[in-house]
Amino acid sequence: SAPSPQSPETPAPQNQTSRVVQAPKEEEEDEQEASEEKASEEEKAWLMASRQQLAKETSNFGFSLLRKISMRHDGNMVFSPFGMSLAMTGLMLGATGPTETQIKRGLHLQALKPTKPGLLPSLFKGLRETLSRNLELGLTQGSFAFIHKDFDVKETFFNLSKRYFDTECVPMNFRNASQAKRLMNHYINKETRGKIPKLFDEINPETKLILVDYILFKGKWLTPFDPVFTEVDTFHLDKYKTIKVPMMYGAGKFASTFDKNFRCHVLKLPYQGNATMLVVLMEKMGDHLALEDYLTTDLVETWLRNMKTRNMEVFFPKFKLDQKYEMHELLRQMGIRRIFSPFADLSELSATGRNLQVSRVLQRTVIEVDERGTEAVAGILSEITAR
Ligand SMILES: *[C@@H]1O[C@H](CO)[C@@H](O)[C@H](O)[C@H]1NC(C)=O
Ligand SMILES: *[C@@H]1O[C@H](CO)[C@@H](O)[C@H](O)[C@H]1NC(C)=O
Ligand SMILES: *[C@@H]1O[C@H](CO)[C@@H](O)[C@H](O)[C@H]1NC(C)=O
Ligand SMILES: *[C@@H]1O[C@H](CO)[C@@H](O)[C@H](O)[C@H]1NC(C)=O
Repeated sequence: SAPSPQSPETPAPQNQTSRVVQAPKEEEEDEQEASEEKASEEEKAWLMASRQQLAKETSNFGFSLLRKISMRHDGNMVFSPFGMSLAMTGLMLGATGPTETQIKRGLHLQALKPTKPGLLPSLFKGLRETLSRNLELGLTQGSFAFIHKDFDVKETFFNLSKRYFDTECVPMNFRNASQAKRLMNHYINKETRGKIPKLFDEINPETKLILVDYILFKGKWLTPFDPVFTEVDTFHLDKYKTIKVPMMYGAGKFASTFDKNFRCHVLKLPYQGNATMLVVLMEKMGDHLALEDYLTTDLVETWLRNMKTRNMEVFFPKFKLDQKYEMHELLRQMGIRRIFSPFADLSELSATGRNLQVSRVLQRTVIEVDERGTEAVAGILSEITAR
């Protein structure tokens, strides 16, 4: 019954790491660049081949996460799997050993089999850049590292975060929790254009580092709904409950299919810039709970392959959802445990990394659908504390 938007993915770099090169030794520099070129030739093939697989695996990670959230929350759900994957991959730059392996496995990234350590983050970087270059799509992404003023973060971690995720570093005094909270909310509010005014509710004064990732999507329908036809109508929450909502109306050619196994209609609502929302409408109200168990990328791809364009009338609700999840609980259930435990090894992050652990990962997502399109924002916060 609840509309299930397939919210797309991410990216926009602002500050590229500028390589500071000291003047002399030009020859050596050339040589170094040449060898980097050569290596990247080999790696390019892997990066090209892996992009499709990353999309597929991340969607499957998203469907697993959906099932976990669904077990704990009634009603509407909205979250960004790509945002989660991006945030955890950023954290992974600071982790080693089993801590790192668990994250990779939990995010379904193990299957990609990168041949070198830097390749996985490179893949994310490439994807972010491609998406941000697609101006019609209206997708922006960014990240912050808020660091306690006397906490010693390794320079390599800074450099890698900057290179792959364009992370902006901001010093903080977490001991003054109220001030830190206000400052961080100010940064995030500004970057998410007021859509997430309060990502931070409380802050542990023992915090050493907080990583924040955000994604904004402002999609315009390829064919907007005409507001003239929007009228209050009945929306079925489940078999028994209905509410009145502003219902949009459109008539014309739409791509759709009917899945005989799951007894559901699937409708494609295209945005500008090659993105689509997929809407699943169960034949029998309330059956969506059964479908959730079987959602996979393969199933979605089958739907897309079977779509036919035909004349239809579409009634679709205008809506806004705003949800917040304690993701560390759910990630733990998906096998990402070590980083949240005293056995966490974050020694790539700091020399004191064996004394650190991630205490919390929180995602807040807001989505708003109207006649013109969809606005969605996700903010993910990872809090790292010392023991
Ligand atoms: C980090 O980046 C800066 C500037 O590009 C560079 O000078 C420095 O050597 C790098 N540090 C490490 C540890 O990679
Ligand atoms: C971004 O780049 C500008 C100049 O290009 C520089 O002034 C600024 O400090 C940089 N910001 C960060 C966070 O590195
Ligand atoms: C926290 O910072 C505010 C200013 O932003 C200041 O007024 C307040 O005294 C500080 N609190 C502590 C305990 O230092
Ligand atoms: C959209 O997809 C088509 C086919 O895959 C491609 O040719 C086109 O360049 C894409 N447009 C954008 C804006 O990415």
